[in-house]
Amino acid sequence: MNCFQYKDGVLRAEGVRLDALAEKVGTPFYCYSTATLERHYKVFAAAVPAGSLVAYAVKANDNLAVLKTLAKLGAGADVVSGGELAKALAAGVPAGRIVFSGVGKTKDEMRAGLEAGIHQFNVESEPELAALDEVARAMGKRAAVSLRINPDVDAKTHAKINTGTAETKFGIPFGHARAAYALAAQMPGIAIAGVDVHIGSQITELAPFETAFTRIGELIATLRGDGHTITRLDLGGGLGVPYEHNNTPPPDPAAYGAMVTRVTRDFGCTLSFEPGRLIAANAGVLVSRVIYVKRGDARTFLILDAGMNDLVRPAMYDAFHEIVAVAEPAPGSPRPKYDVVGPVCETSDLFAADRALPELKSGDLVAILSAGAYGAVMAGDYNARPRVPEVLVAGEQWGIVRPRESYADLIAKDRIPDWLAG
Ligand code: LLP
Repeated sequence: MNCFQYKDGVLRAEGVRLDALAEKVGTPFYCYSTATLERHYKVFAAAVPAGSLVAYAVKANDNLAVLKTLAKLGAGADVVSGGELAKALAAGVPAGRIVFSGVGKTKDEMRAGLEAGIHQFNVESEPELAALDEVARAMGKRAAVSLRINPDVDAKTHAKINTGTAETKFGIPFGHARAAYALAAQMPGIAIAGVDVHIGSQITELAPFETAFTRIGELIATLRGDGHTITRLDLGGGLGVPYEHNNTPPPDPAAYGAMVTRVTRDFGCTLSFEPGRLIAANAGVLVSRVIYVKRGDARTFLILDAGMNDLVRPAMYDAFHEIVAVAEPAPGSPRPKYDVVGPVCETSDLFAADRALPELKSGDLVAILSAGAYGAVMAGDYNARPRVPEVLVAGEQWGIVRPRESYADLIAKDRIPDWLAG
């Protein structure tokens, strides 16, 4: 569900016309809907057992205004870097609702987390455990820790976002878990709190989750048998969202929540979750203008002013994003096929191949849908293309929540060494 709908022939974000916004802020730009962000958070929080910590995965969209919108509803944050920690705190997420994940935390990042007093660290290896113990002891603290266990379950998603199999870098192998907990128990700087599992992203079936969570439940019993106190279980993120409106949608949060409730009923743990995409993906669009329509021998190319540097998902994961015209097409009007491309000098700068769209011409606006998660956060300035602005809408109101970079901003990032100056 989202709040991007046609009204009076124009696509709107809530009460704001996207064509009017394009005139005001220029194109391309990202546009996020407050109402959609809020609804997604509330639906998820209501679907999981009462008392759970819903720690929004900041990596999906780390704009401060997005974080603040969610923080106001009581969301926690799942962070994977010192930068994300700083942004979550700056947006008003209470430290006590922040979990620190990630496979390569540095000691500086650990120090920052301990300084802030975060809820817990999700630790992914024995060397990381030793480093955290050392940092915590030096600060006279004990770090609350869940060990991320790799359950060796295939999440049946794109290979580049499958994280729960033995071949991936993530988590402590299931078979090493008991030894890792025994090690942690001897560390004065570590307070074992629970277990953490995250098997991947854009997961569209419940079965892999259920298999993984069941395995983790068995492990919790074993660990308790070994004498450890396990009170928390972090089930990660990963629930998929509908990208293609003609496809069967993935299980919704209610179905996911019912499965979790059933599977974890007897685990005796307080649960936490790290949803990212589910909250943000369908709360954002990337609005872009057609620069040219180029008729090739084999294809007709719709050349947009947005490129793979602005939204890399299609190039990186062959991801499907729905593309619509901002001006509502008349019912029954023709739908020729286009290859929708950007201006970047790469063949993979392709948003959609052979896609049936309304007839479009130079100057027309399109919206690339479901771009609120892993969109702006993964953007870069390749081809010296300034980062595009982000706009947040709330009802009839809108605000630029990240301004467009200028050429001066781009130039100011670099430095000329002394020997080249003058
Ligand atoms: N927790 C951990 C430890 C994670 O690594 C991730 C995502 C999440 C939570 C949130 O997962 P979500 O609920 O958003 O599926 N850039 C890729 C997705 C990478 C996901 C990385 N980790 C994409 O655009 O599809």
